[in-house]
Amino acid sequence: MIRRLVTSTTEEHPSASLRARSGARRGTDELAWNFRREILVKVFHVVGARPNFMKVAPVLNALRAHEHVVQSVVHTGQHYDANMSDVFFEQLGIPAPDVNLAVGSGSHARQTAEIMMRLEPVVVEGKPDIVLVYGDVNSTVAAALVCAKMGVRVGHVEAGLRSFDRTMPEEINRLVTDQLSDLLFTPSEDGDANLRQEGIAAEKIFRVGNVMIDSLVKLLPIAQQQNRNGLPERYALVTLHRPANVDDSAALKSILESLLDVNQELAVVFPAHPRTRQRIAEFGLRAEQLRVLDPLPYVDFLGLQSRAQVVITDSGGIQEETTYLGVPCLTMRENTERPITVSLGTNVLVGRDPEKLRTEFARLLAGKQKKGTIPPLWDGHAGERIAAVLAG
Ligand code: UD1
Repeated sequence: MIRRLVTSTTEEHPSASLRARSGARRGTDELAWNFRREILVKVFHVVGARPNFMKVAPVLNALRAHEHVVQSVVHTGQHYDANMSDVFFEQLGIPAPDVNLAVGSGSHARQTAEIMMRLEPVVVEGKPDIVLVYGDVNSTVAAALVCAKMGVRVGHVEAGLRSFDRTMPEEINRLVTDQLSDLLFTPSEDGDANLRQEGIAAEKIFRVGNVMIDSLVKLLPIAQQQNRNGLPERYALVTLHRPANVDDSAALKSILESLLDVNQELAVVFPAHPRTRQRIAEFGLRAEQLRVLDPLPYVDFLGLQSRAQVVITDSGGIQEETTYLGVPCLTMRENTERPITVSLGTNVLVGRDPEKLRTEFARLLAGKQKKGTIPPLWDGHAGERIAAVLAG
């Protein structure tokens, strides 16, 4: 049975306060012991888009080890295609969502507002002690806004990343979410520095490492056993979906032309986001010579990444995965919120300059690719460190 405690009035460190609420700091009297076994901490995980799913799985798993924690998964429905959502739940072992808000697609304002309106009654009814939000998608900021206004604690997993480019919708989501969060779990030192710079109190910040790498470490052995499925032995793996790259016909045309050049030297394998597919068709562009595939399940894509000669992408998470895997990554963006993948990892920013892409690609073919190292705390245990803060 879930019994809620009256809201803690302690001004202690947030993790200490959560522990106190679960009875762990109640002293040695008998009442305290009963209290501790009876009082549960109720955690909601709010997720909605593909890059959230590999981040929530390790946290859910790690919290399962703490018997006084009860967990619920709320899916906003931002991503709804089976191959953008369901298959990730299956492969990552995430339980079926307790609630699906089924918001679907829409403009940023509409999608964010719709999530807020549908989430509010779920939080009112469920009375979570803390709501965890992940990454930088619209579902993340919408949930943070709802909970902060209701006085419900928010924990942000993957806090502190900054591209310093406010034309990116995700940057707005990151800034707002971090300002509203009570617990900020960062993947790397730059995250801590950005948060302190923005006036976030040091005691709210927990450098736990990269939770997405936990999923990678766990599933890589299975991913590496994947069948080649008729794909070439050597290839360049491509993903593109950022509005700046795919929503403008001239930009997308120029990128596809560069990829056709790459394809002359190394087969391009391109699992395309639904948005990118739509745009290619809408703008009447040609991509038949490239191996354009439907979006792939997590394990299949991880297998492809681990064997690729190079990955060309505008994704955030893929910059990190390639750094961990030691696979060269050419990022088609002018900036990155994950600078550690450039300073320590295998990532090179080529922007949208076809010349820069050609030059970097040629260096790579000549065997002169950048050698990287794995950043500290990207070790497969970030989820456990988050669980220790919340429930340890
Ligand atoms: C979202 C995130 C982005 C993340 C990306 C990963 C925001 C602001 N953006 O971008 O940070 O990198 O997810 O994929 O939250 N669509 C489908 N089926 C789906 C989902 C989307 O067909 O299951 C199509 C729809 O036409 C939709 C479009 O893709 O309008 C864009 O989806 P949306 O969730 O708005 O943004 P993403 O581009 O996926």
